[in-house]
Amino acid sequence: MAGEPTASETPWLDQDAKPFICIKGVTKKFGEFIAVNNVDLDIYQGELFCLLGGSGCGKTTLLRMLAGFETPTSGQILIDGIDMSNVPPYERPTNMMFQSYALFPHMTVEKNVAFGLKQDKVPNDEITDRVHDILKLVELQDFKKRKPQQLSGGQRQRVALARALVKEPKLLLLDEPLAALDKKLREQTQFELANIQEQVGITFVVVTHDQEEAMTLSSRIAVMDKGQFMQTGTPTEIYEFPESRFVADFIGSANIVEGKITEDNADHVRVSTDLGEIYIDHGQSTKEGSRVWVAIRPEKVHLSKKPPSKKGPNQAEGMVDDIGYLGNTSIYKIRLKNDRIIDVTAPNQIRPKSRTHQITWEDKVYLGWDASSAMLLKK
Ligand SMILES: Nc1ncnc2c1ncn2[C@@H]1O[C@H](COP(=O)(O)OP(=O)(O)OP(=O)(O)O)[C@@H](O)[C@H]1O
Ligand SMILES: [Mg+2]
Repeated sequence: MAGEPTASETPWLDQDAKPFICIKGVTKKFGEFIAVNNVDLDIYQGELFCLLGGSGCGKTTLLRMLAGFETPTSGQILIDGIDMSNVPPYERPTNMMFQSYALFPHMTVEKNVAFGLKQDKVPNDEITDRVHDILKLVELQDFKKRKPQQLSGGQRQRVALARALVKEPKLLLLDEPLAALDKKLREQTQFELANIQEQVGITFVVVTHDQEEAMTLSSRIAVMDKGQFMQTGTPTEIYEFPESRFVADFIGSANIVEGKITEDNADHVRVSTDLGEIYIDHGQSTKEGSRVWVAIRPEKVHLSKKPPSKKGPNQAEGMVDDIGYLGNTSIYKIRLKNDRIIDVTAPNQIRPKSRTHQITWEDKVYLGWDASSAMLLKK
């Protein structure tokens, strides 16, 4: 897509846009244990929103409250403007796709997909049409007479998706929809899922613990930890402008160093750290002398065997401690004088054999990064 996104693609920036889902101060306790802790969130029509976080952080619990399988201990959930407090799951405009898919093993693909419509007493002709259309959408027309055990993992996943979509919910809740697939298939299926969501235009809320998956799929992501939202934003915002060490470290990898602000200007900040002086070319409303952290992504650090022509901030030197060859990139572990290890990733453009000036173990190297690459974190 070219150009700036339009307002309808970024409704969360529009003061007048009405959210489709409103989560207001929702807490869920199991006995004394707080699984979801006072969260607020608005999700807009047509979003593919991801709840991302480690195991046990409360993702499924929040999803189950949206579906109506759990009741909030306090707080309120509105869907399409209606308070869901007293609305049972089957009367909500939602459908949930479970991780296990829960397909009926003795039924064909076609019958699995038609099942919910039959239960709702939809006329037979209409069932045939809707099942046909949805199987076409997920590209399973040729498999409709097969049973689940005669399908691959990815095909089963699409049957489960078709079965959830055929009921035309306004909101589809997906709990780890791709977890059962191997890495390669998962990557391919991520794109399919995003394409299907775009075609049907239904709001999706997807739970995942896989950060790459969240980055690929989402309009926006809420990063969760211990029942709370650490940050909510678009994939780019979360990756390029994390607000905390937790988010910087959870999404991608980051070299994080502690420091003190020595100069705080409208257009730049200087931080003194044990990585030397760091100069950041954007302002931050922080007091001079306050404790902060600076995060630098491994791919933003450049590596050279030649010393820089001029001394300045955003420079360091060290020794190559270890190298990991990852095919398309290599990861270098650089040990500084103070024993701190800095990770640097660099693309492998030349085949190893022909790399005469290749950086190798025990080499002395110089590190540098741009003033725009370092991220200042206050917590
Ligand atoms: N019915 C329950 N009774 C007691 N504790 C529960 C119950 N359901 C969930 N919990 C606890 O609440 C916390 C959050 O659980 P939840 O299933 O929401 O995590 P999750 O983020 O989905 O994790 P995962 O990625 O492992 O699926 C966990 O510590 C879990 O043990
Ligand atoms: Mg879960």
